Amino acid sequence: METKLVKVDTENPEKSVLTEAAEILKNGGLVAFPTETVYGLGANGLDEKACKRIYEAKGRPSDNPLILTIGDLDGLYKIVGKVTENAKKIIDAFWPGPITLVLPKADCVPETVTGGLDTVAVRYPSNKIARELIKIAGIPVAAPSANSSGKPSPTRASHVEFDLNGKIEMIIDGGAADWGLGSTILDVSEDKPVLLRPGAVTQDMIEDVVGEIDVDPAVYSKPDGNIVPKAPGMKYKHYSPSAKVILVSGSMENVISTINEKISTDEKNGLRVGVMATTQTKDRYIGGEVLVVGDRTKPETIGANLFKILRKFDFIGVD
Ligand code: TXA
Ligand code: MG
Repeated sequence: METKLVKVDTENPEKSVLTEAAEILKNGGLVAFPTETVYGLGANGLDEKACKRIYEAKGRPSDNPLILTIGDLDGLYKIVGKVTENAKKIIDAFWPGPITLVLPKADCVPETVTGGLDTVAVRYPSNKIARELIKIAGIPVAAPSANSSGKPSPTRASHVEFDLNGKIEMIIDGGAADWGLGSTILDVSEDKPVLLRPGAVTQDMIEDVVGEIDVDPAVYSKPDGNIVPKAPGMKYKHYSPSAKVILVSGSMENVISTINEKISTDEKNGLRVGVMATTQTKDRYIGGEVLVVGDRTKPETIGANLFKILRKFDFIGVD
């Protein structure tokens, strides 16, 4: 299959392109499009066959449910069984925006979307291209991140092209995704909200609106036999480049010296080492391929570039 790549104006997306993309979606095809978090891989969320194609294109395990995106609030009431009081408060405070709500599903939502769960995850994106596309299509659009399963989420159209070229009908290029990280996922299907995945809308921001929430134990620890994440996708290896990744944490000085020791031994062993540095540390490393992810005083710059830099290391071919 030939994948059509089309660039659009982010402020005034060309209507002709969005109409063509909407037609593809309505006919059971796949279209990748930008959102304010990461690029999404869209399909008609009520069409079981189209949703199955998402799993195939991504190589995604079938028990990992899809998020449904909507283009206006009316769209929500068609796909959920109930909008809880806490959901209403979160919607008022943060929608459209980078937070996904898990709610009881309506009968029309196919099992392929929910992976057999009786809930459905819904997001109303603020990105203009995404919103207008979904509105023109007039259907809920299933939109997981548009990467091959397991790889870092795509924050540029070129990332989508690298992973999915030849497997989907169209990619809409709307420039870099603003946040560069997946949406916050909050389960509001029961009385007390539960944070399932951290994102741009933080726990503090949520608690300011609905009071104390629970945090799924899998959020801050590595899943093992004892901790099963409530967001099924979190149990699989994800956001992972081909190169081995080592996280060094601690004070900035300790981080720099530990990484320098590692560079020294690994390079002696003939390995190519990538160093994900910040504006503050970039000139302090004794070797390696040093790429700057962002500024330590502006964490949002690090979020926006994290996946891009992980992909770049693979592109450069570091070990
Ligand atoms: O920002 C985002 O949310 C992006 C944009 C493109 O919309 N999408 C995204 O989708 O990150 P994905 O599929 O990469 O991650 C969705 C996560 C998965 O971990 C999945 O298991 C979880 O949401 N999820 C989906 N439906 C769920 C449900 N009913 N209950 C709990 N978790 C659910
Ligand atoms: Mg994903």
